[in-house]
Amino acid sequence: MHDQRNVTLLRTHTSGELRLENKDQVVTLCGWVNAQRDHGGLVFIDLRDRYGMTQVVFDPDNGAEMLNLARSLRNEDVIEATGKVVPRGEKLVNPKLATGQIEIVVSKLTVLNRSKTPPFLPGSTEIANEEIRLKHRYLDLRRPQLQEAMIFRHKFSKLVRDYFDKNGFLDIETPMLGRSTPEGARDYLVPSRVHEGAFYALPQSPQIYKQMLMVAGFDRYMQIARCFRDEDLRADRQPEFTQIDVEMAFVKMEDILGMIDGLVAYVMKEMRGIDHPLPLPRMSYRDAAERFGSDKPDLRFGMELKCLGEVAARCGFGVFQTTIQNGGRVRGICAVGGAPKYSRKVIDELTEFVKTYGAQGLAFFRVNETGLDSPIAKFFSEEDQQAIIAKFEAKPGDIIFCVADKQKVTSAALAALRNRLGKELQLYDPKQMHFSWLLDFPLFNWNEEDKRWDAEHHPFCDPVTEDVPFFETDPGQIRAQSYDMIINGYEAASGSVRIHDPVVQQKVFDLLGIKEEEAEARFGFLLDALRYGAPPHAGVALGLDRWVMLFLGNDNIRDVIAFPKTQKAADMLTGAPAPVDDRQLRDLHIKVNTPK
Ligand code: AMO
Ligand code: AMP
Repeated sequence: MHDQRNVTLLRTHTSGELRLENKDQVVTLCGWVNAQRDHGGLVFIDLRDRYGMTQVVFDPDNGAEMLNLARSLRNEDVIEATGKVVPRGEKLVNPKLATGQIEIVVSKLTVLNRSKTPPFLPGSTEIANEEIRLKHRYLDLRRPQLQEAMIFRHKFSKLVRDYFDKNGFLDIETPMLGRSTPEGARDYLVPSRVHEGAFYALPQSPQIYKQMLMVAGFDRYMQIARCFRDEDLRADRQPEFTQIDVEMAFVKMEDILGMIDGLVAYVMKEMRGIDHPLPLPRMSYRDAAERFGSDKPDLRFGMELKCLGEVAARCGFGVFQTTIQNGGRVRGICAVGGAPKYSRKVIDELTEFVKTYGAQGLAFFRVNETGLDSPIAKFFSEEDQQAIIAKFEAKPGDIIFCVADKQKVTSAALAALRNRLGKELQLYDPKQMHFSWLLDFPLFNWNEEDKRWDAEHHPFCDPVTEDVPFFETDPGQIRAQSYDMIINGYEAASGSVRIHDPVVQQKVFDLLGIKEEEAEARFGFLLDALRYGAPPHAGVALGLDRWVMLFLGNDNIRDVIAFPKTQKAADMLTGAPAPVDDRQLRDLHIKVNTPK
């Protein structure tokens, strides 16, 4: 199909659209030399643009000068080629290319620009090291995978906007230069020139502004918003990332969940043609912790954690016994059919792996016809061996891995091991998308180090009404009206019902040890706004980069962002962050004191 919108004064078609039907047409294509092949008399060039690839041919019959020019072309040179669309001989058809049935016999060649020898070839399947790729990101972005990612991202964002527009949401922009928001990470600060010694903070999220918009009466708000957080980076975390930010007034939690369920169904239908069943599954925080040791379990596969409680307490293995006596737990997972796949050497590797999550060791049992086979099997009576097998519903050929430690360590180590085994044993289809809600988070977490309560989400999150009496007796019991969406083991969205009652807000501040003056100083404007007729409101924010990453089956967030930052928050392309002129610093009243 010929898309007239792609016609310009330089080209008539793109490199992705010509077919047999275009036979004998004279066309002009522009693009990059992806490869050049010199076949004695004839020169072939694969011409590439973002729409695809077309083979162009230079025949000596069309002039030696042009043939020589074609011979001089190198990878990534930019050319304009005019010629006739000719069917390829039957044996020469390239089924891998959409344009593979034709080629262009060139009658006019213009070199639009030459390229230096590139440090890596975007057309190559061998991927250069990431630092080099990021330094020459404009070359890297010519790679088909990255082009696909950018195109997908565009389509996805558009669908999201369409969906919210259809549902009556207004897209309202909020400031980049604002005040520090309480999302819990470090702020990126921007010094003020006009106000000496004062700083703006780049938003960690539009949280406070979107609540203001609710007070202002815009009862359905959405924004695709850039957020900035100075925190430790990981494969799924960038210092600068994008949220699909949503807030609604006159709603209950169920309204938000329903609205985002609808978004998932809409996107799955439009992107994948799938009728996704609704409502999305839900799980409580406690269930997730007990069954998967995680608040973001990958639910594409089972392999649930089981507790060896009584058996561990009465067995003869010292490590298990003492762990139970000290109030710890012995928990494990069973890899179905894993016994032959995990040799002693590989188990040693797994042991090192769980140690990075704080575990002291990794016990294992191979299941056979008669019972358990393991260096520590002798510490378990025949009856207890059968009890373990029954607990895991294990069969001969399975292997059970156990960790004995404090509850927290068993969770962290086994959750990580479960993810690793699930991937290694290919327990799921990597293309599958599994969406679920995690609910009933605790409102507060006890901070053992500082001996105080911390907000699990942020201090404006509404408690479950029936749990309010626990403020006086057992704050750890209070559940929040908050929710996370989990996709394939990643936290893909998070939100809550907000407090709109000043009395409840005060209780939260009191428990968090936020003094009245401090609250007034840090978010007095928000508290003030809540006193002028704030409607009940709730919202959620989706990590756009993570959604795109997961839809594309990727595990590196940098591959779905055009110009990402490195693990050390540097932009390799422009060299940011970089020192600035003394003059600029003087204007900002800043003196830099770099440690020696
Ligand atoms: P939260 O801090 O949980 O909530 O962020 C919401 C979602 O944003 C994504 N996300 C990130 N993605 C990439 N890099 C990061 N550094 C990063 N940090 C977060 C995650 C996460 O689920 N204002 C609240 C939302 C609300 O209550 O409405 C907020 O920002 O997918
Ligand atoms: P040891 O008695 O130290 O030789 O350990 C015997 C087995 O128990 C080894 O496979 C260890 O990895 C494992 N082990 C040791 N400590 C723990 C622990 N805390 N949890 C689970 N397994 C452990």
